[in-house]
Amino acid sequence: SKLVGLVGWRGMVGSVLMDRMVAEKDFDLIEPLFFSTSNAGGKAPAMAKNETTLQDAFDIEQLKRCEIVITAQGGDYTTEVFPKLRAAGWKGHWIDAASTLRMKDDAVIVLDPVNMPVIKNALADGGRNWIGGNCTVSCMLMGVGALYKAGLVEWMSTQTYQAASGGGAQHMRELLTQYGTLYSEVKALLDDPKSAILEIDRQVIARQRSLSGDETANFGVPLGGSLIPWIDKDLGNGMSKEEWKGMAETNKILGQGEGFGSPAVPVDGFCVRVGAMRCHSQALTFKLKKDVPLADIEAMIAADNDWVKVVPNTREATLKDLTPVAVTGTMTIPVGRLRKMAMGPEYLGAFTIGDQLLWGAAEPLRRMLRILLE
Ligand code: HSE
Repeated sequence: SKLVGLVGWRGMVGSVLMDRMVAEKDFDLIEPLFFSTSNAGGKAPAMAKNETTLQDAFDIEQLKRCEIVITAQGGDYTTEVFPKLRAAGWKGHWIDAASTLRMKDDAVIVLDPVNMPVIKNALADGGRNWIGGNCTVSCMLMGVGALYKAGLVEWMSTQTYQAASGGGAQHMRELLTQYGTLYSEVKALLDDPKSAILEIDRQVIARQRSLSGDETANFGVPLGGSLIPWIDKDLGNGMSKEEWKGMAETNKILGQGEGFGSPAVPVDGFCVRVGAMRCHSQALTFKLKKDVPLADIEAMIAADNDWVKVVPNTREATLKDLTPVAVTGTMTIPVGRLRKMAMGPEYLGAFTIGDQLLWGAAEPLRRMLRILLE
């Protein structure tokens, strides 16, 4: 079986990837070679077969042995190692969770339930760089990709509610610590049912505003009990990088727009960090190219792939199935709140959620591995 190098398997995304690979018995099909940036020479995890020693993740000769390398080590690692590995003549397949190579012409953003034709075309053309998409974009297309595939979308606006995990493991810890700090601040008042809510509120905001630099080191400002309407870099044109990715990556995944000789579908909106743990949610507004009956839209979305689930647009179903708490740790991508909007019959509203560590990060990578093993 093929020698597959695994880098960054111990981190948050990497651990989710390992769990999924074990659950889907991917290790039965490969000879894994585990790499480490910090513990070369140590013992590889239990999934190892013949190669039981951790290799140095910066050792180009060891990486060159692999037919396939999968990395969730992060962008700095990719920036440092990938060019050296290719310069050393390596012709293997590079599967990567980081954004570094995503927009390169010779890279495909992999999300096979949505863009298998794009992947197959690139494979036939000798493509060797397979990059996981931005979590928000991947989860969105798993939910409403059907509308794009049918060529129905004139434009889409998206308002996101992105979880702490998108920033990383430390961000999740910081959020929870902030919640705990705020709770501790007012616990005595909360325990007294006769205490004044405005006094509780006053103490909470005072504590939020006095959180130290250490207590907000990862997000920069308090997130617990607040939100942050800016994610990733400031591009200097009024957009955050996360917002820019929405249009750039959606079109690239679908194989349209710049570089593909067809017009890009405009995608724009605001990306907002909220105090959820690991599910990214998004409110979507579509301008469709024509008035399609809502029942047809629901049927198209529901039939698109094995993971999308249309949630009836009722209060009861929404509260039960369309929350980060309901979706976390599952492969399900619910799409709900589907309705025509007041602006006219071509305007469609929807709300969708995905676990950003599963479909948003790990799953498209392991599925690409499977495609290469076919
Ligand atoms: N940029 C995403 C976020 C992370 O911060 O939520 C995954 O692409």
